[in-house]
Amino acid sequence: MKALIAPSLLSSNFAKLGEEALSIIEKGADWLHMDVMDGHFVNNLTIGAPVIRSLRQFIGEKPYLDCHLMVSDPLKWVDDFAKAGASMITFHLEAVTNIDTIINKIKEHNIEVGISIKPNTDVDLLIPYLDKIDMALVMTVEPGFGGQKFMQNMMPKVSKIRKLKPNLNIQVDGGLSLETIEIAARAGANVIVAGSAVFKSENPQKVISGLREITEK
Ligand code: DX5
Ligand code: ZN
Repeated sequence: MKALIAPSLLSSNFAKLGEEALSIIEKGADWLHMDVMDGHFVNNLTIGAPVIRSLRQFIGEKPYLDCHLMVSDPLKWVDDFAKAGASMITFHLEAVTNIDTIINKIKEHNIEVGISIKPNTDVDLLIPYLDKIDMALVMTVEPGFGGQKFMQNMMPKVSKIRKLKPNLNIQVDGGLSLETIEIAARAGANVIVAGSAVFKSENPQKVISGLREITEK
């Protein structure tokens, strides 16, 4: 299956976010993964829709902004992020009571929709929604910070989704690198988020092409 490599800008230099974004696309990134944290759903605070809006203006309309909302009550922010230029909004299953309402609200904006589950969340809770979404995100670390260790024991979740949905985009996020990618790809992941592995590397281009090659193998 086609691999989509989505470097997480969380590990980039936020003081020059626009340049970092354009430069990583030039180095082969398919998507830009934007980690939105509210200091409540997770124990860290990052960026909101105003930053997405400025970034969108700077990078132009083409680059794909994959917005991963690690926030409580994501429904509240859908309009802001969609208007700011998000290409996809992924929300956390754990943060929402009426899943169908938020899926529909995201779709009303004609952008894509993803649902994410944290490591302690049962994959079976996600299954009823797989037909209604564009991507499932299986977290492979506890959300909140870059640079954590990949949780290999999340792979049965990925395999289970892949078996049910041969063509669905399945994203993995957390601890992905040239060392861990093979396990994730074998389980059936095809959308690969990598923060520190890409941005802390001397040769991001090589890391991106390596991740792609192993995922598509
Ligand atoms: C963690 C974020 C990730 C993070 C990944 O909560 O969702 O996207 O940036 O960073 P690495 O690849 O360094 O684990
Ligand atoms: Zn993320």
